[in-house]
Amino acid sequence: MWIMLLGLASALLASSRSDDTTVVRARSCSYMGVFHVEGKTRYSLNFEEAETLCEQLSSSLASLEQVEKAYEKGLQTCRYAWINSTELVILRRKPNPLCAGNQTGIIRKTQEGKRYDAFCYDAKDTSEKNCTAMIDPDSSN
Ligand SMILES: *[C@@H]1O[C@H](CO)[C@@H](O)[C@H](O)[C@H]1NC(C)=O
Ligand SMILES: *[C@@H]1O[C@H](CO)[C@@H](O)[C@H](O)[C@H]1NC(C)=O
Ligand SMILES: *[C@@H]1O[C@H](CO)[C@@H](O)[C@H](O)[C@H]1NC(C)=O
Repeated sequence: MWIMLLGLASALLASSRSDDTTVVRARSCSYMGVFHVEGKTRYSLNFEEAETLCEQLSSSLASLEQVEKAYEKGLQTCRYAWINSTELVILRRKPNPLCAGNQTGIIRKTQEGKRYDAFCYDAKDTSEKNCTAMIDPDSSN
């Protein structure tokens, strides 16, 4: 009986653990293979979880250089997301007082131990812009 319960409990734990990292609530279009992803909720990923989530999406955490190329082609976010240097980056093309305090450009900061989103890079996706896998949680369609 106890063994069964223990088995059940660990199976439940294992499944909730994998759910936590595989769930993607939002995903941007890709620019030069780089896309922004949110885990199960806004700002839910520490650095290691961001790395794991990108791997599960057949990609890896993007480098600053890859993010810069994506920014040049049009990627913009209103969210801070991990890159592979363990820094956080927000990409602002247009000023918006609600996003990075109205700054524009590629804004970096370090913030160890906290939870944010992720920038993933799929080396196989060489298109300038690709919205095939986009997930917009706010769209009504
Ligand atoms: C980030 O990724 C780039 C490109 O794959 C790689 O050259 C670089 O060494 C990586 N940096 C770190 C800190 O992992
Ligand atoms: C945001 O920046 C733009 C461009 O620099 C400026 O015109 C605008 O007044 C700024 N808005 C706020 C609320 O600071
Ligand atoms: C666009 O993205 C989809 C989904 O990730 C991928 O299957 C497809 O190969 C990509 N297109 C190009 C041209 O890389």
